[in-house]
Amino acid sequence: MRETLRMQSVQSPIIPVVGELIRSNPGTISLGQGVAYYGPPARAIEYIERFAADPENHKYKLVQGIPELLEVIEQKLKTENRISLKGSRIVVTAGANMGFVNAVLAITDPGDEIILNLPYYFNHEMAVVIADCKAVCVPSDDDYQLQPERIAAAITGRTRAVVTISPNNPTGAVYSKSDLRKVNEICRSSGIYHINDEAYEYFTYDGARHFSPGSIEGGAEHTISLFSLSKAYGFASWRIGWMVIPEHLFEPIRKIQDTILICPPVVSQWAAVGAMQAGRDYCSDKLKMTAEVRQLVLKELETIRDLVTVPRADGAFYFMLRVHADTEPMELVKQLIEQHKVAVIPGMTFGIEDGCCLRVAYGALQKSTATEGIGRLVKGLKQILRN
Ligand SMILES: Cc1ncc(COP(=O)(O)O)c(C=O)c1O
Repeated sequence: MRETLRMQSVQSPIIPVVGELIRSNPGTISLGQGVAYYGPPARAIEYIERFAADPENHKYKLVQGIPELLEVIEQKLKTENRISLKGSRIVVTAGANMGFVNAVLAITDPGDEIILNLPYYFNHEMAVVIADCKAVCVPSDDDYQLQPERIAAAITGRTRAVVTISPNNPTGAVYSKSDLRKVNEICRSSGIYHINDEAYEYFTYDGARHFSPGSIEGGAEHTISLFSLSKAYGFASWRIGWMVIPEHLFEPIRKIQDTILICPPVVSQWAAVGAMQAGRDYCSDKLKMTAEVRQLVLKELETIRDLVTVPRADGAFYFMLRVHADTEPMELVKQLIEQHKVAVIPGMTFGIEDGCCLRVAYGALQKSTATEGIGRLVKGLKQILRN
């Protein structure tokens, strides 16, 4: 007995490997984890009582989500994202990852191609391979920004979608409105979908502005927008996100989600109603500390400019460092953990094959841990790379 060749070709995530290294080196500070440092608002927990008060809530509910949550999301999309839902609709999912898998399964046949921008979010690449499709990777520029002409040039007769993530994991880049508009137009004129992941929409700094391609006039037919409560509301384990999809994709997505999930966990959906009533202010408040941590990380990295380049990153909670050395990235990560007790994620996790890149994540950290962690990273890189 054996697994399929298809599944054998799916990459094994490196994050658990780094996790194991961290566990076997107690005291290691992780700059690897892509999660927020805080949990959900009190309002979310209060709403669990509403869930519990009605025995009907223990039964299956609508595939696309409970009306109460759909209503709050609709309002939010209108006021914050300028997404009007003319010609599109919302499907609540068990997180943005599930939204992505739903989308890929709904729009591809085996052997089709999906364009990902490099570096990619590894679960996107994995989902494409799991669906028996090909991930076509288009490099971003030196600042990890989109290259619309290269995206257009990569489109073939088998391409079904272009995927963008802004603010970006793993680079922290925030894409400009004009680049996102260009990509959306390329997709429209090529008759393919534009999938945009907005899991970090609230996480922007230094005046950077988030833009939702789902708001583009005439874009409803070919734009799929993915959202998540995981980061904004400290909701990672609650598994709630949603997708905005063209009306014509509702039938296939309903079939997929009905088969895999039946309905998103209703208790989490009620908690999500409470969280979203607390609203964006909840995240903005928490973001003040993350913004301070970001400054602290930037200031420390500035001291080793001869050793690493830190491309501009005005969003999410990541920096993707380019190390000025011909070192094998996983070897460097191992040395940093074993000798300096600090963990980062190697660039190859995100499809970077040329050069040595390291992803630094700072969203999970309190200030004191961040100071210690980044201090160890800088000292470690100095020692390893200057010797
Ligand atoms: C770009 C991006 N999309 C989706 C996810 C997963 O979101 P969710 O927890 O809603 O599935 C992550 C988590 O790190 C992410 O970075």
